Amino acid sequence: MLRKTGKYFKGYVLFAVLTPILMILEVVVDVIIPSLMRSTINGGVLAGNVNLVYRNGLYMIIAAIFAFLVGGISTYFGARAGQGLGKNLRLAVFNRVQTFSFANLDKFEVSSLITRLTNDIEIVSDIARMSLRISVRAPFLFIMATIMAVRINTQLSLIFIVALPLMAFGVFLTLKFGLPRFRKYQTKIDSINRRTQENLTAIRVVKAFVREDFEIEKFETQNKKLVRSALNAMNLMILIMPFMMLIMYAVIVAVLWFGGNFMLQGGMQAGDLFSYIMYVGQILMAVMHVAMIMMNFSRARASVERIFEVLETEPEFLESVDQGLTEVPNGSIKFKNVSFKYPGNQHFSLKNINLEIDSGSTLAVIGSTGSSKSTLVHLIPRLYDATEGEVEVGGIPIKDYNLKTLRDQVAIVLQENTLFSGTIRSNMQWGNKDATDQEMIKALEISQAADFVLNRAEGLDARVERGGTNFSGGQKQRLSIARTLLKEPKIIIFDDSTSAVDMTTEARIRAGLDQHNPKLTKIVIAQRISSIQNADKIVVMDDGNICGAGTHEELLEDNKIYQEIYESQQKGMVAG
Ligand SMILES: Nc1ncnc2c1ncn2[C@@H]1O[C@H](COP(=O)(O)OP(=O)(O)O)[C@@H](O)[C@H]1O
Ligand SMILES: [Mg+2]
Repeated sequence: MLRKTGKYFKGYVLFAVLTPILMILEVVVDVIIPSLMRSTINGGVLAGNVNLVYRNGLYMIIAAIFAFLVGGISTYFGARAGQGLGKNLRLAVFNRVQTFSFANLDKFEVSSLITRLTNDIEIVSDIARMSLRISVRAPFLFIMATIMAVRINTQLSLIFIVALPLMAFGVFLTLKFGLPRFRKYQTKIDSINRRTQENLTAIRVVKAFVREDFEIEKFETQNKKLVRSALNAMNLMILIMPFMMLIMYAVIVAVLWFGGNFMLQGGMQAGDLFSYIMYVGQILMAVMHVAMIMMNFSRARASVERIFEVLETEPEFLESVDQGLTEVPNGSIKFKNVSFKYPGNQHFSLKNINLEIDSGSTLAVIGSTGSSKSTLVHLIPRLYDATEGEVEVGGIPIKDYNLKTLRDQVAIVLQENTLFSGTIRSNMQWGNKDATDQEMIKALEISQAADFVLNRAEGLDARVERGGTNFSGGQKQRLSIARTLLKEPKIIIFDDSTSAVDMTTEARIRAGLDQHNPKLTKIVIAQRISSIQNADKIVVMDDGNICGAGTHEELLEDNKIYQEIYESQQKGMVAG
Protein backbone atom coordinates (compact mmCIF):
# COMPACT_ATOMS: atom_id res chain seq x y z
CA MET A 1 0.00 0.00 0.00
CA LEU A 2 2.76 2.41 0.96
CA ARG A 3 4.81 1.52 -2.10
CA LYS A 4 1.85 2.08 -4.37
CA THR A 5 0.83 5.42 -2.93
CA GLY A 6 4.40 6.55 -2.30
CA LYS A 7 5.07 7.54 -5.86
CA TYR A 8 2.10 9.87 -5.87
CA PHE A 9 3.91 12.16 -3.42
CA LYS A 10 5.73 13.40 -6.51
CA GLY A 11 6.47 17.10 -6.24
CA TYR A 12 5.75 16.94 -2.50
CA VAL A 13 8.49 14.50 -1.49
CA LEU A 14 10.35 17.19 0.41
CA PHE A 15 7.30 17.88 2.55
CA ALA A 16 6.69 14.16 3.02
CA VAL A 17 10.28 13.69 4.20
CA LEU A 18 10.59 16.83 6.33
CA THR A 19 7.34 16.18 8.20
CA PRO A 20 8.61 13.09 10.04
CA ILE A 21 12.09 14.58 10.49
CA LEU A 22 10.67 17.65 12.20
CA MET A 23 8.45 15.30 14.16
CA ILE A 24 11.57 13.63 15.55
CA LEU A 25 12.80 17.02 16.78
CA GLU A 26 9.43 17.60 18.37
CA VAL A 27 9.66 14.26 20.17
CA VAL A 28 13.16 15.09 21.40
CA VAL A 29 11.79 18.23 23.03
CA ASP A 30 8.84 16.28 24.44
CA VAL A 31 11.30 13.92 26.08
CA ILE A 32 13.62 16.63 27.34
CA ILE A 33 10.92 18.57 29.18
CA PRO A 34 10.26 15.95 31.89
CA SER A 35 14.01 15.77 32.46
CA LEU A 36 14.16 19.50 32.93
CA MET A 37 11.27 19.20 35.39
CA ARG A 38 13.17 16.53 37.23
CA SER A 39 16.28 18.62 37.57
CA THR A 40 14.22 21.66 38.55
CA ILE A 41 12.47 19.82 41.35
CA ASN A 42 15.47 17.85 42.57
CA GLY A 43 18.22 20.39 42.20
CA GLY A 44 16.16 23.57 42.38
CA VAL A 45 13.04 23.32 44.52
CA LEU A 46 14.20 20.66 46.97
CA ALA A 47 17.75 21.99 47.24
CA GLY A 48 16.57 25.58 47.41
CA ASN A 49 18.58 26.63 44.35
CA VAL A 50 16.53 29.49 42.94
CA ASN A 51 18.96 30.17 40.11
CA LEU A 52 18.56 26.66 38.81
CA VAL A 53 14.79 27.05 38.91
CA TYR A 54 15.05 30.23 36.85
CA ARG A 55 17.53 28.75 34.42
CA ASN A 56 15.55 25.59 33.88
CA GLY A 57 12.40 27.66 33.63
CA LEU A 58 14.01 29.60 30.81
CA TYR A 59 15.12 26.39 29.10
CA MET A 60 11.64 25.05 29.36
CA ILE A 61 10.17 28.17 27.83
CA ILE A 62 12.69 27.95 24.98
CA ALA A 63 11.96 24.24 24.55
CA ALA A 64 8.23 24.92 24.51
CA ILE A 65 8.60 27.64 21.89
CA PHE A 66 10.87 25.40 19.84
CA ALA A 67 8.39 22.50 20.07
CA PHE A 68 5.60 24.87 19.13
CA LEU A 69 7.44 26.10 16.04
CA VAL A 70 8.73 22.75 14.92
CA GLY A 71 5.38 21.12 15.60
CA GLY A 72 3.58 23.84 13.68
CA ILE A 73 5.89 23.58 10.70
CA SER A 74 5.73 19.80 10.73
CA THR A 75 1.94 19.89 10.85
CA TYR A 76 1.89 22.36 7.99
CA PHE A 77 4.30 20.27 5.91
CA GLY A 78 2.24 17.18 6.69
CA ALA A 79 -0.84 18.97 5.41
CA ARG A 80 1.00 20.04 2.25
CA ALA A 81 2.20 16.48 1.66
CA GLY A 82 -1.26 15.02 2.29
CA GLN A 83 -2.96 17.54 0.03
CA GLY A 84 -0.27 17.04 -2.60
CA LEU A 85 -0.86 13.32 -2.52
CA GLY A 86 -4.58 13.93 -2.90
CA LYS A 87 -4.02 16.30 -5.80
CA ASN A 88 -1.74 13.88 -7.65
CA LEU A 89 -4.07 10.95 -7.08
CA ARG A 90 -7.10 12.93 -8.24
CA LEU A 91 -5.33 13.98 -11.39
CA ALA A 92 -4.10 10.46 -12.06
CA VAL A 93 -7.54 8.92 -11.57
CA PHE A 94 -9.20 11.61 -13.67
CA ASN A 95 -6.66 11.17 -16.47
CA ARG A 96 -7.05 7.43 -16.37
CA VAL A 97 -10.83 7.66 -16.63
CA GLN A 98 -10.41 9.92 -19.68
CA THR A 99 -8.46 7.17 -21.45
CA PHE A 100 -11.13 4.58 -20.72
CA SER A 101 -12.90 2.86 -23.57
CA PHE A 102 -16.63 2.24 -23.48
CA ALA A 103 -15.89 -1.28 -22.30
CA ASN A 104 -13.78 0.06 -19.42
CA LEU A 105 -16.55 2.46 -18.49
CA ASP A 106 -19.09 -0.35 -18.36
CA LYS A 107 -17.05 -1.77 -15.48
CA PHE A 108 -17.50 1.22 -13.15
CA GLU A 109 -20.67 3.02 -12.24
CA VAL A 110 -20.41 6.77 -12.62
CA SER A 111 -21.38 7.29 -8.99
CA SER A 112 -18.66 4.93 -7.87
CA LEU A 113 -16.09 6.80 -9.93
CA ILE A 114 -17.21 10.01 -8.27
CA THR A 115 -16.87 8.46 -4.81
CA ARG A 116 -13.40 7.26 -5.66
CA LEU A 117 -12.38 10.65 -7.02
CA THR A 118 -13.66 12.56 -4.02
CA ASN A 119 -14.33 10.61 -0.84
CA ASP A 120 -11.70 7.88 -1.19
CA ILE A 121 -8.95 10.26 -2.19
CA GLU A 122 -9.93 12.57 0.64
CA ILE A 123 -9.57 9.69 3.13
CA VAL A 124 -6.19 8.64 1.78
CA SER A 125 -4.87 12.17 1.71
CA ASP A 126 -6.09 12.82 5.25
CA ILE A 127 -4.65 9.63 6.64
CA ALA A 128 -1.35 10.28 4.86
CA ARG A 129 -1.22 13.65 6.59
CA MET A 130 -1.78 12.11 10.02
CA SER A 131 0.40 9.09 9.49
CA LEU A 132 3.38 11.08 8.34
CA ARG A 133 3.43 12.48 11.86
CA ILE A 134 2.02 9.85 14.14
CA SER A 135 3.62 6.79 12.60
CA VAL A 136 6.98 8.36 13.38
CA ARG A 137 5.97 9.90 16.65
CA ALA A 138 4.52 6.76 18.23
CA PRO A 139 7.50 4.39 17.93
CA PHE A 140 10.08 7.09 18.47
CA LEU A 141 8.39 8.52 21.53
CA PHE A 142 7.93 5.01 22.86
CA ILE A 143 11.63 4.19 22.59
CA MET A 144 12.91 7.53 23.87
CA ALA A 145 10.51 7.72 26.80
CA THR A 146 11.26 4.11 27.76
CA ILE A 147 15.01 4.78 27.72
CA MET A 148 14.52 7.84 29.89
CA ALA A 149 12.25 6.01 32.31
CA VAL A 150 14.66 3.10 32.64
CA ARG A 151 17.51 5.53 33.23
CA ILE A 152 15.63 7.17 36.07
CA ASN A 153 14.83 3.92 37.79
CA THR A 154 15.37 0.49 36.33
CA GLN A 155 13.60 -1.38 39.10
CA LEU A 156 10.49 0.72 38.78
CA SER A 157 10.43 0.02 35.08
CA LEU A 158 9.77 -3.63 35.81
CA ILE A 159 6.13 -2.53 36.14
CA PHE A 160 6.10 -2.28 32.37
CA ILE A 161 6.95 -5.92 32.00
CA VAL A 162 3.49 -6.54 33.43
CA ALA A 163 1.72 -3.52 31.96
CA LEU A 164 2.94 -3.60 28.37
CA PRO A 165 1.69 -7.09 27.50
CA LEU A 166 -1.68 -6.04 28.92
CA MET A 167 -1.66 -2.90 26.77
CA ALA A 168 -0.57 -4.92 23.77
CA PHE A 169 -3.48 -7.21 24.46
CA GLY A 170 -5.77 -4.18 24.45
CA VAL A 171 -4.33 -3.05 21.13
CA PHE A 172 -4.71 -6.56 19.79
CA LEU A 173 -8.38 -6.62 20.86
CA THR A 174 -8.96 -3.27 19.21
CA LEU A 175 -7.48 -4.45 15.97
CA LYS A 176 -9.00 -7.90 15.97
CA PHE A 177 -12.54 -6.76 16.63
CA GLY A 178 -12.34 -3.12 15.64
CA LEU A 179 -10.88 -3.47 12.16
CA PRO A 180 -13.64 -5.60 10.67
CA ARG A 181 -16.23 -3.30 12.18
CA PHE A 182 -14.61 -0.20 10.81
CA ARG A 183 -14.27 -1.85 7.44
CA LYS A 184 -17.95 -2.67 7.48
CA TYR A 185 -18.70 0.90 8.47
CA GLN A 186 -16.72 2.10 5.45
CA THR A 187 -18.72 -0.06 3.07
CA LYS A 188 -21.89 1.38 4.58
CA ILE A 189 -20.61 4.88 3.90
CA ASP A 190 -19.96 3.73 0.35
CA SER A 191 -23.44 2.50 -0.20
CA ILE A 192 -25.01 5.63 1.21
CA ASN A 193 -22.84 7.70 -1.09
CA ARG A 194 -23.86 5.55 -3.99
CA ARG A 195 -27.54 5.90 -3.17
CA THR A 196 -27.25 9.64 -2.75
CA GLN A 197 -25.43 10.11 -6.01
CA GLU A 198 -27.73 7.84 -7.92
CA ASN A 199 -30.73 9.66 -6.58
CA LEU A 200 -29.37 13.13 -7.20
CA THR A 201 -28.22 12.47 -10.74
CA ALA A 202 -31.67 11.14 -11.54
CA ILE A 203 -33.69 13.51 -9.36
CA ARG A 204 -35.84 14.68 -12.27
CA VAL A 205 -36.78 11.13 -13.12
CA VAL A 206 -37.55 10.48 -9.46
CA LYS A 207 -39.90 13.44 -9.47
CA ALA A 208 -41.49 12.53 -12.77
CA PHE A 209 -42.34 9.11 -11.38
CA VAL A 210 -43.37 10.55 -8.00
CA ARG A 211 -40.96 8.17 -6.35
CA GLU A 212 -39.78 10.56 -3.65
CA ASP A 213 -41.32 8.59 -0.80
CA PHE A 214 -39.90 5.35 -2.06
CA GLU A 215 -36.48 6.95 -2.44
CA ILE A 216 -36.65 8.50 1.03
CA GLU A 217 -37.54 5.14 2.48
CA LYS A 218 -34.62 3.49 0.74
CA PHE A 219 -32.34 6.24 1.94
CA GLU A 220 -33.63 5.91 5.48
CA THR A 221 -32.89 2.20 5.52
CA GLN A 222 -29.35 2.83 4.37
CA ASN A 223 -28.97 5.64 6.83
CA LYS A 224 -30.10 3.46 9.72
CA LYS A 225 -27.70 0.74 8.67
CA LEU A 226 -24.91 3.29 8.63
CA VAL A 227 -25.72 4.49 12.14
CA ARG A 228 -25.97 0.94 13.44
CA SER A 229 -22.66 0.04 11.93
CA ALA A 230 -21.01 3.20 13.28
CA LEU A 231 -22.35 2.51 16.77
CA ASN A 232 -21.23 -1.07 16.46
CA ALA A 233 -17.69 0.06 15.76
CA MET A 234 -17.76 2.73 18.43
CA ASN A 235 -19.27 0.53 21.13
CA LEU A 236 -16.17 -1.57 20.89
CA MET A 237 -14.03 1.51 21.33
CA ILE A 238 -16.17 2.52 24.27
CA LEU A 239 -15.43 -0.86 25.84
CA ILE A 240 -11.76 -0.93 25.05
CA MET A 241 -10.96 2.65 25.98
CA PRO A 242 -11.77 2.22 29.70
CA PHE A 243 -9.73 -0.97 29.65
CA MET A 244 -6.73 0.95 28.35
CA MET A 245 -7.38 3.77 30.81
CA LEU A 246 -7.66 1.26 33.61
CA ILE A 247 -4.24 -0.14 32.78
CA MET A 248 -2.84 3.35 32.49
CA TYR A 249 -4.10 4.42 35.91
CA ALA A 250 -3.08 1.10 37.42
CA VAL A 251 0.43 1.71 36.13
CA ILE A 252 0.46 5.20 37.59
CA VAL A 253 -0.82 3.94 40.97
CA ALA A 254 1.83 1.22 40.91
CA VAL A 255 4.51 3.76 40.05
CA LEU A 256 3.37 6.01 42.88
CA TRP A 257 3.25 3.10 45.31
CA PHE A 258 6.63 1.60 44.51
CA GLY A 259 8.16 4.96 43.73
CA GLY A 260 6.87 6.28 47.07
CA ASN A 261 8.54 3.37 48.80
CA PHE A 262 11.78 4.04 46.95
CA MET A 263 11.54 7.67 48.03
CA LEU A 264 11.05 6.70 51.64
CA GLN A 265 14.08 4.47 51.37
CA GLY A 266 15.95 7.38 49.85
CA GLY A 267 16.55 5.73 46.49
CA MET A 268 14.42 8.22 44.61
CA GLN A 269 13.70 11.93 44.74
CA ALA A 270 10.41 13.75 44.17
CA GLY A 271 11.61 15.07 40.81
CA ASP A 272 12.48 11.54 39.72
CA LEU A 273 9.01 10.32 40.50
CA PHE A 274 7.36 13.31 38.90
CA SER A 275 9.22 13.00 35.61
CA TYR A 276 8.85 9.24 35.70
CA ILE A 277 5.09 9.60 35.69
CA MET A 278 5.32 12.00 32.76
CA TYR A 279 7.30 9.39 30.83
CA VAL A 280 4.79 6.74 31.74
CA GLY A 281 2.10 8.91 30.22
CA GLN A 282 4.13 9.31 27.05
CA ILE A 283 4.83 5.60 26.73
CA LEU A 284 1.20 4.66 27.17
CA MET A 285 0.10 7.37 24.77
CA ALA A 286 2.52 6.02 22.17
CA VAL A 287 1.02 2.55 22.51
CA MET A 288 -2.47 3.91 21.99
CA HIS A 289 -1.29 5.83 18.95
CA VAL A 290 -0.03 2.61 17.43
CA ALA A 291 -3.55 1.21 17.68
CA MET A 292 -4.88 4.37 16.10
CA ILE A 293 -2.49 4.24 13.15
CA MET A 294 -3.26 0.62 12.44
CA MET A 295 -6.93 1.48 12.50
CA ASN A 296 -6.41 4.37 10.10
CA PHE A 297 -4.29 2.30 7.78
CA SER A 298 -6.97 -0.27 7.48
CA ARG A 299 -9.53 2.43 6.74
CA ALA A 300 -7.25 3.83 4.10
CA ARG A 301 -6.55 0.43 2.63
CA ALA A 302 -10.08 -0.02 1.33
CA SER A 303 -9.90 3.42 -0.25
CA VAL A 304 -6.44 2.82 -1.69
CA GLU A 305 -7.69 -0.43 -3.20
CA ARG A 306 -10.62 1.33 -4.81
CA ILE A 307 -8.45 4.12 -6.18
CA PHE A 308 -5.94 1.70 -7.64
CA GLU A 309 -8.65 -0.43 -9.14
CA VAL A 310 -9.22 2.54 -11.43
CA LEU A 311 -5.56 3.37 -11.89
CA GLU A 312 -4.70 -0.22 -12.73
CA THR A 313 -7.49 -0.71 -15.25
CA GLU A 314 -5.70 -0.90 -18.56
CA PRO A 315 -7.32 1.32 -21.17
CA GLU A 316 -7.94 -0.79 -24.26
CA PHE A 317 -6.90 1.42 -27.11
CA LEU A 318 -4.02 3.32 -25.63
CA GLU A 319 -1.52 2.07 -28.19
CA SER A 320 -3.52 3.28 -31.19
CA VAL A 321 -3.83 6.83 -29.92
CA ASP A 322 -0.51 7.92 -31.30
CA GLN A 323 0.23 5.23 -33.86
CA GLY A 324 -1.37 3.95 -37.00
CA LEU A 325 -2.57 5.31 -40.31
CA THR A 326 -3.68 8.91 -40.35
CA GLU A 327 -5.47 8.85 -43.68
CA VAL A 328 -8.82 7.24 -44.40
CA PRO A 329 -8.95 6.63 -48.18
CA ASN A 330 -12.73 6.56 -48.56
CA GLY A 331 -15.97 6.07 -46.71
CA SER A 332 -16.66 2.44 -47.52
CA ILE A 333 -17.37 0.04 -44.66
CA LYS A 334 -17.17 -3.73 -44.47
CA PHE A 335 -18.16 -6.11 -41.67
CA LYS A 336 -16.47 -9.49 -42.09
CA ASN A 337 -17.96 -12.29 -39.94
CA VAL A 338 -18.28 -9.95 -37.00
CA SER A 339 -19.55 -11.22 -33.67
CA PHE A 340 -19.60 -9.19 -30.53
CA LYS A 341 -20.39 -9.71 -26.90
CA TYR A 342 -20.22 -7.07 -24.18
CA PRO A 343 -17.52 -7.72 -21.60
CA GLY A 344 -19.09 -9.76 -18.82
CA ASN A 345 -22.11 -10.77 -20.89
CA GLN A 346 -22.77 -14.44 -21.62
CA HIS A 347 -24.63 -14.03 -24.88
CA PHE A 348 -23.48 -12.47 -28.12
CA SER A 349 -25.10 -9.15 -28.99
CA LEU A 350 -24.02 -9.42 -32.62
CA LYS A 351 -23.85 -12.76 -34.39
CA ASN A 352 -21.73 -13.30 -37.49
CA ILE A 353 -22.51 -10.05 -39.25
CA ASN A 354 -21.47 -9.60 -42.89
CA LEU A 355 -22.23 -6.25 -44.41
CA GLU A 356 -20.85 -3.97 -47.09
CA ILE A 357 -21.54 -0.28 -47.44
CA ASP A 358 -20.29 1.64 -50.46
CA SER A 359 -18.55 4.92 -50.03
CA GLY A 360 -21.02 7.78 -50.38
CA SER A 361 -24.11 5.63 -50.00
CA THR A 362 -26.76 5.73 -47.32
CA LEU A 363 -27.39 2.71 -45.16
CA ALA A 364 -30.41 2.58 -42.93
CA VAL A 365 -30.75 0.28 -39.92
CA ILE A 366 -34.12 -0.60 -38.50
CA GLY A 367 -35.25 -3.10 -35.88
CA SER A 368 -36.88 -3.37 -32.49
CA THR A 369 -35.20 -1.89 -29.41
CA GLY A 370 -32.54 -4.22 -28.11
CA SER A 371 -31.95 -5.73 -31.53
CA SER A 372 -28.34 -4.40 -31.39
CA LYS A 373 -28.60 -1.54 -33.85
CA SER A 374 -26.51 0.76 -31.67
CA THR A 375 -24.06 -2.03 -30.92
CA LEU A 376 -23.55 -2.59 -34.64
CA VAL A 377 -22.62 1.00 -35.40
CA HIS A 378 -20.51 1.42 -32.24
CA LEU A 379 -18.01 -1.00 -33.70
CA ILE A 380 -17.20 1.27 -36.67
CA PRO A 381 -15.48 4.10 -34.74
CA ARG A 382 -14.14 1.45 -32.30
CA LEU A 383 -16.23 2.50 -29.33
CA TYR A 384 -16.05 -1.24 -28.75
CA ASP A 385 -13.87 -3.79 -30.51
CA ALA A 386 -15.39 -6.79 -32.29
CA THR A 387 -15.03 -10.02 -30.33
CA GLU A 388 -14.65 -12.04 -33.53
CA GLY A 389 -14.22 -11.04 -37.15
CA GLU A 390 -13.11 -7.71 -38.51
CA VAL A 391 -14.46 -4.32 -39.46
CA GLU A 392 -12.88 -2.37 -42.33
CA VAL A 393 -13.18 1.26 -43.27
CA GLY A 394 -11.90 2.37 -46.67
CA GLY A 395 -10.75 -1.20 -47.27
CA ILE A 396 -8.37 -1.15 -44.27
CA PRO A 397 -8.96 -2.93 -40.93
CA ILE A 398 -9.98 -0.24 -38.44
CA LYS A 399 -7.34 -1.39 -35.95
CA ASP A 400 -4.66 -0.15 -38.36
CA TYR A 401 -5.83 3.44 -38.05
CA ASN A 402 -4.76 6.00 -35.57
CA LEU A 403 -7.68 6.17 -33.15
CA LYS A 404 -8.12 9.91 -33.42
CA THR A 405 -8.09 9.77 -37.21
CA LEU A 406 -10.64 6.99 -37.22
CA ARG A 407 -12.98 8.78 -34.83
CA ASP A 408 -12.64 12.07 -36.68
CA GLN A 409 -13.44 10.43 -39.98
CA VAL A 410 -16.14 8.13 -38.64
CA ALA A 411 -18.29 10.58 -36.73
CA ILE A 412 -21.19 9.34 -34.67
CA VAL A 413 -24.11 11.27 -33.27
CA LEU A 414 -24.86 9.12 -30.24
CA GLN A 415 -28.31 8.07 -29.17
CA GLU A 416 -27.97 9.85 -25.85
CA ASN A 417 -26.39 13.15 -26.64
CA THR A 418 -25.11 15.63 -24.16
CA LEU A 419 -24.18 19.22 -24.56
CA PHE A 420 -21.65 20.68 -22.19
CA SER A 421 -22.07 23.76 -20.07
CA GLY A 422 -20.67 26.78 -21.87
CA THR A 423 -21.90 28.44 -25.03
CA ILE A 424 -23.14 27.18 -28.37
CA ARG A 425 -19.77 28.15 -29.73
CA SER A 426 -17.81 26.15 -27.15
CA ASN A 427 -20.02 23.16 -27.88
CA MET A 428 -19.46 23.50 -31.61
CA GLN A 429 -15.72 23.63 -31.00
CA TRP A 430 -15.93 20.08 -29.71
CA GLY A 431 -16.39 19.09 -33.32
CA ASN A 432 -13.54 21.23 -34.57
CA LYS A 433 -11.73 23.58 -32.27
CA ASP A 434 -10.57 25.78 -35.15
CA ALA A 435 -13.97 26.16 -36.80
CA THR A 436 -14.78 29.72 -37.87
CA ASP A 437 -18.11 31.35 -37.11
CA GLN A 438 -19.05 30.93 -40.74
CA GLU A 439 -18.34 27.21 -40.65
CA MET A 440 -20.34 26.88 -37.46
CA ILE A 441 -23.29 28.70 -38.94
CA LYS A 442 -23.08 26.58 -42.07
CA ALA A 443 -23.18 23.39 -39.96
CA LEU A 444 -26.08 24.78 -37.93
CA GLU A 445 -27.92 25.58 -41.16
CA ILE A 446 -27.53 22.03 -42.46
CA SER A 447 -28.73 20.57 -39.18
CA GLN A 448 -31.67 23.01 -39.17
CA ALA A 449 -30.45 24.60 -35.93
CA ALA A 450 -29.48 27.98 -37.33
CA ASP A 451 -32.93 29.47 -36.81
CA PHE A 452 -33.27 28.96 -33.12
CA VAL A 453 -29.62 29.76 -32.46
CA LEU A 454 -29.50 32.96 -34.46
CA ASN A 455 -32.86 34.06 -33.08
CA ARG A 456 -31.25 34.41 -29.71
CA ALA A 457 -29.67 37.78 -29.11
CA GLU A 458 -26.34 36.22 -28.14
CA GLY A 459 -26.27 33.98 -31.24
CA LEU A 460 -23.33 31.60 -31.03
CA ASP A 461 -22.56 32.93 -27.57
CA ALA A 462 -25.91 31.85 -26.16
CA ARG A 463 -25.45 30.01 -22.89
CA VAL A 464 -25.77 26.25 -22.69
CA GLU A 465 -26.60 24.96 -19.21
CA ARG A 466 -25.09 21.78 -17.88
CA GLY A 467 -26.33 18.86 -19.95
CA GLY A 468 -28.02 21.32 -22.30
CA THR A 469 -31.12 21.51 -20.11
CA ASN A 470 -32.11 24.89 -21.57
CA PHE A 471 -32.71 23.32 -24.99
CA SER A 472 -35.47 20.98 -26.05
CA GLY A 473 -34.73 17.38 -27.02
CA GLY A 474 -35.05 18.14 -30.72
CA GLN A 475 -32.87 21.23 -30.44
CA LYS A 476 -30.20 19.27 -28.62
CA GLN A 477 -30.26 16.65 -31.35
CA ARG A 478 -29.83 19.27 -34.05
CA LEU A 479 -26.98 20.96 -32.16
CA SER A 480 -25.30 17.59 -31.75
CA ILE A 481 -25.58 16.95 -35.47
CA ALA A 482 -24.03 20.34 -36.24
CA ARG A 483 -21.22 19.65 -33.81
CA THR A 484 -20.51 16.34 -35.56
CA LEU A 485 -20.68 17.87 -39.05
CA LEU A 486 -17.91 20.29 -38.13
CA LYS A 487 -15.52 17.35 -38.07
CA GLU A 488 -16.02 17.04 -41.84
CA PRO A 489 -16.01 13.24 -41.57
CA LYS A 490 -16.09 10.71 -44.39
CA ILE A 491 -18.68 8.63 -42.59
CA ILE A 492 -21.43 9.94 -40.38
CA ILE A 493 -23.62 7.77 -38.20
CA PHE A 494 -26.93 8.92 -36.80
CA ASP A 495 -28.04 6.67 -33.95
CA ASP A 496 -31.70 7.58 -33.76
CA SER A 497 -30.54 11.18 -33.85
CA THR A 498 -33.62 12.75 -35.34
CA SER A 499 -36.20 10.94 -33.21
CA ALA A 500 -37.21 14.19 -31.49
CA VAL A 501 -37.34 16.21 -34.69
CA ASP A 502 -40.49 16.47 -36.81
CA MET A 503 -40.56 14.78 -40.20
CA THR A 504 -40.33 17.94 -42.31
CA THR A 505 -37.25 19.15 -40.46
CA GLU A 506 -35.76 15.69 -40.70
CA ALA A 507 -36.20 15.70 -44.48
CA ARG A 508 -34.55 19.12 -44.64
CA ILE A 509 -31.56 17.89 -42.62
CA ARG A 510 -31.14 14.98 -45.02
CA ALA A 511 -31.41 17.21 -48.08
CA GLY A 512 -28.93 19.65 -46.55
CA LEU A 513 -26.45 16.85 -45.92
CA ASP A 514 -26.68 15.55 -49.48
CA GLN A 515 -26.14 18.99 -50.84
CA HIS A 516 -23.23 19.76 -48.52
CA ASN A 517 -21.26 16.61 -49.21
CA PRO A 518 -22.63 14.06 -51.68
CA LYS A 519 -19.64 11.79 -51.03
CA LEU A 520 -20.45 11.36 -47.34
CA THR A 521 -21.29 7.81 -46.28
CA LYS A 522 -24.34 7.93 -44.03
CA ILE A 523 -25.64 5.34 -41.62
CA VAL A 524 -29.02 6.13 -40.20
CA ILE A 525 -30.65 4.22 -37.38
CA ALA A 526 -34.30 5.16 -37.26
CA GLN A 527 -37.64 4.09 -35.89
CA ARG A 528 -39.75 5.58 -38.67
CA ILE A 529 -39.77 3.89 -42.03
CA SER A 530 -40.63 7.24 -43.56
CA SER A 531 -37.17 8.47 -42.47
CA ILE A 532 -35.30 5.74 -44.27
CA GLN A 533 -37.26 4.55 -47.27
CA ASN A 534 -35.02 6.43 -49.68
CA ALA A 535 -31.85 4.84 -48.36
CA ASP A 536 -29.63 2.94 -50.81
CA LYS A 537 -29.76 -0.06 -48.56
CA ILE A 538 -31.79 -0.92 -45.49
CA VAL A 539 -30.82 -3.66 -43.06
CA VAL A 540 -33.33 -5.12 -40.64
CA MET A 541 -31.85 -6.17 -37.31
CA ASP A 542 -33.38 -8.81 -35.14
CA ASP A 543 -31.78 -10.07 -31.93
CA GLY A 544 -28.22 -9.42 -33.06
CA ASN A 545 -28.70 -10.80 -36.57
CA ILE A 546 -29.26 -9.11 -39.88
CA CYS A 547 -32.52 -10.71 -40.94
CA GLY A 548 -32.95 -8.82 -44.17
CA ALA A 549 -31.19 -6.32 -46.39
CA GLY A 550 -32.27 -4.48 -49.50
CA THR A 551 -34.15 -1.45 -50.67
CA HIS A 552 -37.47 -0.37 -49.24
CA GLU A 553 -39.36 -2.03 -52.08
CA GLU A 554 -37.39 -5.27 -51.88
CA LEU A 555 -37.92 -5.56 -48.14
CA LEU A 556 -41.61 -4.79 -48.40
CA GLU A 557 -41.76 -7.64 -50.82
CA ASP A 558 -40.05 -10.37 -48.87
CA ASN A 559 -39.17 -9.40 -45.27
CA LYS A 560 -41.75 -10.27 -42.66
CA ILE A 561 -40.38 -8.08 -39.89
CA TYR A 562 -40.08 -5.11 -42.23
CA GLN A 563 -43.64 -5.62 -43.40
CA GLU A 564 -44.86 -5.72 -39.81
CA ILE A 565 -43.07 -2.51 -38.92
CA TYR A 566 -44.38 -0.87 -42.06
CA GLU A 567 -47.94 -1.91 -41.46
CA SER A 568 -47.95 -0.86 -37.82
CA GLN A 569 -46.64 2.57 -38.81
CA GLN A 570 -49.13 2.95 -41.64
CA LYS A 571 -51.97 2.22 -39.22
CA GLY A 572 -50.48 4.67 -36.77
CA MET A 573 -50.46 7.33 -39.45
CA VAL A 574 -54.10 6.77 -40.31
CA ALA A 575 -55.25 6.56 -36.72
CA GLY A 576 -52.99 9.33 -35.46
N1 LIG B 1 -23.02 -1.40 -22.22
C1 LIG B 1 -23.64 -2.58 -22.33
N2 LIG B 1 -23.26 -3.62 -21.54
C2 LIG B 1 -23.87 -4.81 -21.64
N3 LIG B 1 -24.85 -5.08 -22.49
C3 LIG B 1 -25.29 -4.10 -23.30
C4 LIG B 1 -24.69 -2.80 -23.26
N4 LIG B 1 -25.31 -2.02 -24.17
C5 LIG B 1 -26.25 -2.80 -24.77
N5 LIG B 1 -26.24 -4.05 -24.25
C6 LIG B 1 -27.09 -5.17 -24.69
O1 LIG B 1 -26.91 -5.39 -26.06
C7 LIG B 1 -28.15 -5.59 -26.72
C8 LIG B 1 -28.34 -4.60 -27.85
O2 LIG B 1 -28.42 -3.29 -27.36
P1 LIG B 1 -28.46 -2.03 -28.33
O3 LIG B 1 -27.43 -2.21 -29.37
O4 LIG B 1 -28.40 -0.82 -27.51
O5 LIG B 1 -29.90 -2.19 -29.00
P2 LIG B 1 -30.68 -1.15 -29.88
O6 LIG B 1 -29.81 0.00 -30.16
O7 LIG B 1 -31.07 -1.92 -31.08
O8 LIG B 1 -31.89 -0.76 -29.09
C9 LIG B 1 -29.22 -5.47 -25.64
O9 LIG B 1 -29.59 -6.78 -25.31
C10 LIG B 1 -28.54 -4.81 -24.49
O10 LIG B 1 -29.02 -5.35 -23.28
MG1 LIG C 1 -29.94 2.00 -29.67
